[in-house]
Amino acid sequence: MGIAHSLYSHAIRPVVFRQPAEEAHESTKRMLKGSMPMGLLSSYSDLGKDKLSVDLGGKVKLDGPIGIAAGFDKDAEMLDGLSQLFDYITIGTLLPYKWPGNPKTASGDPSTSRIVRLEEEEAMLNCLGFPFSGLDNALANVSRYGASIPINASIAVRPPQEGQSMEDVIEQFKSMAGMIARHVPSRIAMVEVNFASPNTKGLAVFFEKGVFEELSTTTVGVLGGKGALTLMKMPPHLDSQTRARNIGVAKRWIEAGGEGLTVINTVKTSDPRLSMGAGGKSGRPIFDTMMGNLKDYRQALGPEPIINAVGGITAERVPQAIIDGGADTVQVYTPFIYHGPTYVRDAKAALMRSLKSKGIGSLGELRQKAIRQADSLVKT
Ligand SMILES: Cc1cc2nc3c(=O)[nH]c(=O)nc-3n(C[C@H](O)[C@H](O)[C@H](O)COP(=O)(O)O)c2cc1C
Repeated sequence: MGIAHSLYSHAIRPVVFRQPAEEAHESTKRMLKGSMPMGLLSSYSDLGKDKLSVDLGGKVKLDGPIGIAAGFDKDAEMLDGLSQLFDYITIGTLLPYKWPGNPKTASGDPSTSRIVRLEEEEAMLNCLGFPFSGLDNALANVSRYGASIPINASIAVRPPQEGQSMEDVIEQFKSMAGMIARHVPSRIAMVEVNFASPNTKGLAVFFEKGVFEELSTTTVGVLGGKGALTLMKMPPHLDSQTRARNIGVAKRWIEAGGEGLTVINTVKTSDPRLSMGAGGKSGRPIFDTMMGNLKDYRQALGPEPIINAVGGITAERVPQAIIDGGADTVQVYTPFIYHGPTYVRDAKAALMRSLKSKGIGSLGELRQKAIRQADSLVKT
């Protein structure tokens, strides 16, 4: 363990963890809003550029395979700091409008909250429900950004509310896509549609036929047409029925022209400490589910579609997700909270060691190998 990691886990994290999680996130934001302190670490994330660069479908070139996952920088406020640490930044989930998210406590009960840390498991529970400062504000933040690394915009709409029809919601989605398209490809290089959160009731309505096709066609036409790489974030599957539904959704997405998936969102979990009584679990304990789901998608879709893996990928597990699981990139949220700013350096060092021990020259070579293997399986 290096000095910087030790400093984080023995000095910084214990202080940060004394604050409730949402307050701690505000402190982190203040630190990552500027690039100065993180600039000291930037050389760490450059590690292995020649071997670890990734080409996503000829559209997006990354210096390495590690991105910050959706939900960490919901309002695109930390772009300067995060660009010093990661190879790409996911912003959002963006909505077409400002939204407070779910209640911060259950009927004012101060023993409940929207984020609960499970320190022993290196996990978190959250039931935030897409709090968002508004599309104008987030896109103004994006405009100010110097675009030193690519942005992936996570987007969603909420199911029809009282007095609203599905057509109204589809219109909201289209208008949001139009506004985001103005920043593609100069600043926003990828778009990740997220109907996968367990914290917004009824979100799976968007996976239903007809609605899904219309939203997919809009995403691929309006945003993909301007040059954005188009991704769909998938909810986890833990049983065969949900597995069949998810694989079906993924296939329809690729048929509609979508270029890839992000696998997986959090795993629904009940807990009385959460303001909603239930939320999504993230971090170490969901890794095995993520790996199983990842393999299911690779098997069903073959090696061509891009797949970003996310879910409990600690630095030492990055080689497993990429080399064994066939992920093109990994995204991280909870392990970054537990591990600190040296996460990317440690993950890249582990990946370089693993590639070397397997005699693989680079991530580009690994992908070519997977495609050749799949081709030879088809021919035999
Ligand atoms: C506090 C919190 C907020 C999140 N918000 C979002 C979100 O707005 N959109 C989304 O697609 N995923 C969101 N996620 C899910 C993460 O992007 C990721 O899929 C999940 O946490 C699993 O990865 P991890 O184990 O690296 O955290 C959130 C996760 C956490 C912990």
